[in-house]
Amino acid sequence: MIVLCAALALAFSSPPPSTALVPWPASIEFQEGSFTVGKGVALTFDSAGDATGSTAAYLNGCLAKDAKVVLPARAAADWKGPAIRFTTSGADPALGDEGYSLVVGRAGIVVRAPKPAGLFYGAQTVRQLIGRQYPAKVPYLKIIDKPRFGWRGLLLDVSRHFRDVDFVKRQIDLLALHKMNVFHWHLVDDQGWRLEIKRYPKLTEVGAWRQEASGRYGGYYTQAQVREIVDYAAKRFITVVPEIEMPGHCNAALAAYPEFSCTGGPFTTPTLWGVFSDVYCAGNEGTYAFNEGILEETLALFPSKFIHIGGDEVPKTRWQACAKCQAKIKAEGLKDEHELQSYFIRRIDKWLTARGRRLVGWDEILEGGLAPGATVQSWRGMEGAIDAAKMGHDVIVSPTSHCYLDYPYTTTSVEKSYSFEPVPAELTAEQAKHVLGGEGNMWAERTPLPADTDRMVFPRLSALAEVYWSPKAARSWAAFKPRLDRHLDTLAAMGVKFFVPPPSFSNDETVFLDKVTVRLSPGPGAIVYTLDGSDPGPRSPRYAKPIVLTSTTTVKAATLRGNAVGTPVSRTFKKVTLREPIVFVRAPDPGLRWQRYEGRWSTLPDFDKLTATASGTSETPGTSVAEREDDYALVFEGVFMAPKDGIYTFFTSSDDGSALWIGDEKVLDNDGLHAVEERAGQVALKAGWHPIRIAMFEAGGSQALSVSVRPPGGQKRPVALADFGR
Ligand code: ACM
Ligand code: ZN
Repeated sequence: MIVLCAALALAFSSPPPSTALVPWPASIEFQEGSFTVGKGVALTFDSAGDATGSTAAYLNGCLAKDAKVVLPARAAADWKGPAIRFTTSGADPALGDEGYSLVVGRAGIVVRAPKPAGLFYGAQTVRQLIGRQYPAKVPYLKIIDKPRFGWRGLLLDVSRHFRDVDFVKRQIDLLALHKMNVFHWHLVDDQGWRLEIKRYPKLTEVGAWRQEASGRYGGYYTQAQVREIVDYAAKRFITVVPEIEMPGHCNAALAAYPEFSCTGGPFTTPTLWGVFSDVYCAGNEGTYAFNEGILEETLALFPSKFIHIGGDEVPKTRWQACAKCQAKIKAEGLKDEHELQSYFIRRIDKWLTARGRRLVGWDEILEGGLAPGATVQSWRGMEGAIDAAKMGHDVIVSPTSHCYLDYPYTTTSVEKSYSFEPVPAELTAEQAKHVLGGEGNMWAERTPLPADTDRMVFPRLSALAEVYWSPKAARSWAAFKPRLDRHLDTLAAMGVKFFVPPPSFSNDETVFLDKVTVRLSPGPGAIVYTLDGSDPGPRSPRYAKPIVLTSTTTVKAATLRGNAVGTPVSRTFKKVTLREPIVFVRAPDPGLRWQRYEGRWSTLPDFDKLTATASGTSETPGTSVAEREDDYALVFEGVFMAPKDGIYTFFTSSDDGSALWIGDEKVLDNDGLHAVEERAGQVALKAGWHPIRIAMFEAGGSQALSVSVRPPGGQKRPVALADFGR
């Protein structure tokens, strides 16, 4: 008999194909031989009326869907044959609330757990061991498993785009499959209020809807639907944590009840994204009564100990100008508006604590002093988690760097998410105990359709599920990758439209002079491609060797996975001639002229129709000349010195959108609302001076602009004054 300990199994042998377990167990030992789940095998339990019985029934429901089989279910006392057995008897109490042991041997599979959630996670493991084949061969093995963290969650933003009850239930099923236990339901934001509150009916009559070009857009959940979802989740050991945003991100609520703003409104439910100046008036006692009224109904719907109140991205401009807010600052002896925010959160914290609940807020609630009972969810990096844990507060981690599932895969790859370490090295062992766990955050600004959500959430959430469940030492990207590939077959069978990494272009040309050799590097499968602009399908040509082009051509390529083709990548290779430089009588002045425009846009505006509010010169492009944080656009203009003939690659890295022109040619397009994102574009230049123009806009949140160039045959480097003048 060969027995491998978990670490050896990871290091020296890949597990048998049937064990595509995600997340990987805390400990697993494989043994020689296998048990066949087939005819004559029953599902057994201690009693039909206890958790062993309900878990067996749940597993049968899953097997009916996954493997198209329903096993006979029997009380263990009445069955002597081979079985998949669920029992609490003899379970090790050290497995805790969520742990279980699972043994596969000659007589079948035995799952033992001291608590119902452990039985349930054991059932998920059995389900993954069986997969979609019946009969199924399951290797002899022994698993002892419990999670690393007690908080393993997904945030789903249903404000920006509403998702119906069936979609939410399916999401909960997918969380259960991954042994995740928190559904963080982002029910409230500027663009839509999604929770029926009986004493404030306008929240959903008005705030659940916005006027899009296509008509009235939105939706909400009735209290009956919320109860149904909370119950559905509870049966799967998932706590639904509602998020009711305050004092910011509340424009949908203000559209319904403008009296709780500083200015009195009126407001409409916004259709643009961003951070809005109008927030709840913190100087109006009515605001507190209003939010407490909302929370009272919220508590009645959600048994969760933790209630999330948002607290992020609260501009202070309205409070600075509001007599009521200023009077409150004075009356309470507060130093400034940050302390007013802290005062707001403290009041709500006290109110929740008095009702036996605990407040969770985004890391901005640290500003101006943390409320005594507050748990901090760190999103702007890990600093909030570090500060709060050092102060003895519990924390939940979901930094943008690894856990923001709305970020593109080019920014946050599956491997990047998988590499996330939830416990910051700065914390002592004692402080680290305050890290309750983490989440993946699915914000929805850029994902209108349900399939968009699937593509962004999966497979990154599968990676995060392992981050939050498996011991740090058991995590290995090399071991996870092939397992994930088999796990994706499970997700595909469940209809999940997960992201299939496309092939990538290994060469970065977009323009060429005579010919170009196009090289593709593979995603997880074969590559199919077309040269006529059509989307590749399973029967399109397979990529086998580099493609040589001599005329302008669009290459579209996609990964073939089974019979499915992933999202294609596309690049047009443009045959060009060298652009002629402009001739100056004397060398132009050094640097760039810049102009600033004010307004809020979601793409670069038409600058010809606008009047600049400020102008000047600068050595290089950047946001420092804006002298404001939000709602502006900048245009930089000058000449670029091309030292020799050839193809120049320009890069802009910006938050939000940007673009770059040489003469009248748009060389690169990095437009749209987005976090820091780099894009490149190419142009063929003859040596000499070429007019250059760079534009960017900023609509809210953080701001950034940097520009780089790679000259022909050279290295990429930031542009400098020397590029723009004498
Ligand atoms: C957040 O992403 N504003 C929490
Ligand atoms: Zn006010």
